[in-house]
Amino acid sequence: MTQNLVYLNGEYVPASEAKISIFDGAISLGMTVTESTRTFAHQPFRLRDHLERLYLSLKAARFDAGMMLDEMEQLTLEVWEKNRPHYPADTDAWIIHNITPGQWVPSSGQKPPESKPTVMIVTLPLDLSYWAEFYRTGCHAVTPFTRVQPAQSLDSRIKNRSRFLYTMAESEVKQFDPMAQSLILDTNGFLSENKGGNFFLVTKNCIKTPSTINCLNGISRQTIFQLANQLEIPIEECQLLPYDVTTADEAFFTSTPYCIMPATKFNGITVGNGEVGPITRNLISAWSQLVGIDIQEQAQQSQQSLS
Ligand SMILES: Cc1ncc(COP(=O)(O)O)c(C=O)c1O
Repeated sequence: MTQNLVYLNGEYVPASEAKISIFDGAISLGMTVTESTRTFAHQPFRLRDHLERLYLSLKAARFDAGMMLDEMEQLTLEVWEKNRPHYPADTDAWIIHNITPGQWVPSSGQKPPESKPTVMIVTLPLDLSYWAEFYRTGCHAVTPFTRVQPAQSLDSRIKNRSRFLYTMAESEVKQFDPMAQSLILDTNGFLSENKGGNFFLVTKNCIKTPSTINCLNGISRQTIFQLANQLEIPIEECQLLPYDVTTADEAFFTSTPYCIMPATKFNGITVGNGEVGPITRNLISAWSQLVGIDIQEQAQQSQQSLS
């Protein structure tokens, strides 16, 4: 595959030549607002929703991207169209936005007046092989020691690149089971989210998920609400405890790349009967119909093309 072209502050550059300053706010402040969108059959999925969330994150973080949302949308489609010819028909893409406040001099703690935001738009091939097996067998959800920060410190709805706590949480659970997926609690012990996904469980045919008081308002999460309504499955936001997962009939995570990742084990205990449940399977089928791609099949093909 020819090297991806990256959009960086008004220019297109090959990914290997895309560089930012060591004084950029991404580095000196750890301040990057981000989005990750995916394509299905090369069509960006819910791009407008991702960009609307990006602009809400920027507003809450008190810096801007230096352009209006419509312009960002056009630009994003342009970046994808430039790179798309290099993607084989069966390979979808990530479209990633990283926005920082630009230059920020650490010695003075000031933003120089001439500083402009740093805007990066990158596309990458979407390798789904890691998740292929989980559609069949489900994953093992494990609660780490690390907790998500309370909204009073950093609101989880701001999608940002500070991945320190999420990476700690993942490495803790992976020491316990190398294939485990973190199910992080908040500081009150309620379920929140995964390092890159939202969490749902099914009890007595009702889908339940934490409210966005302690987790990102995932675009995939929003798609689950849409599909649940379409399938007439009751769905509600509520406070959930580890007990609720242990006693649930089904459980799953959602995120942009894999859409739905079933969980059939929680902290070593079987969830339901230990198999991917009927409601989870219905949601995977409904999502596949929505995007015109068999999600599970695509991940399995991704796995086969590597083996
Ligand atoms: C912390 C966190 N929670 C949830 C999600 C899921 O969001 P989405 O469905 O928009 O991918 C992400 C996605 O990266 C995330 O980083």
